Amino acid sequence: MGLQINPPCINPLYITGTDTGIGKTVASTALLHALRARGWRAVGMKPLASGCVDSVEGLRNDDAMALLEASDPRPAYSDLNPYALPLPLAPEIAAREAGIVIRMELITAAFARLRSVADTVVVEGVGGWAAPLSATLDQADVARALELEVVMVVGMRLGCLNHARLTARAVEADGCRLVGWIANHVDPGMEHQDDNFQLLQRRLHVPCWGRLPYQQIPDPRALAGRLERVDG
Ligand SMILES: Nc1ncnc2c1ncn2[C@@H]1O[C@H](COP(=O)(O)OP(=O)(O)O)[C@@H](O)[C@H]1O
Ligand SMILES: [Mg+2]
Repeated sequence: MGLQINPPCINPLYITGTDTGIGKTVASTALLHALRARGWRAVGMKPLASGCVDSVEGLRNDDAMALLEASDPRPAYSDLNPYALPLPLAPEIAAREAGIVIRMELITAAFARLRSVADTVVVEGVGGWAAPLSATLDQADVARALELEVVMVVGMRLGCLNHARLTARAVEADGCRLVGWIANHVDPGMEHQDDNFQLLQRRLHVPCWGRLPYQQIPDPRALAGRLERVDG
């Protein structure tokens, strides 16, 4: 009897954040580079994106393009971003305006294709955790259905303690597993950044995976070096 060796794999992740515009895309792309640097084949996913530009190849979203750029191997755009909605609105409204019905099965099928070519998938959420995807679909439904572990990006700015604690509670109340958080210094003018970081560390009951400094033009490849932990 031969030795049975489990194929290397790492639990796919769902990246949520304390709000929209706090660095989920920056952190997700940095995470992809960090995973790749550790030898994993890692691809990004943005199941639903609102706010796209029309190109010769179809609708394209900036977050999805950044995730594609950071992925290895590079999947088909339509697998990485199955729902590309033209208008930069709340998903439910953007979908209605486009006459599109969001179906979990389409997301599940795209995810399965990504999973089959990579060791792990880094799935970026939409806005904050409680932002709904449609009238019947929450982000928690996606995280649960795809068995994703959740990582919370905390945009370090005034008010983030409240948003971070509420988000952490909500993730767990929704039956999802929060495995870590990432501090992202989006506001160079924030007072007492270290004190705030320490307060968060004391109150969040999961490990901090790293602290991303403010960068005029964020470079995910360089920021990857600041993520000390990438796999729970
Ligand atoms: N560490 C950082 N330093 C400087 N600017 C940042 C940093 N992280 C994010 N940003 C900027 O903040 C904005 C929002 O970041 P993004 O990753 O797109 O957020 P989200 O995906 O949560 O909407 C972008 O313009 C991005 O360049
Ligand atoms: Mg984003």
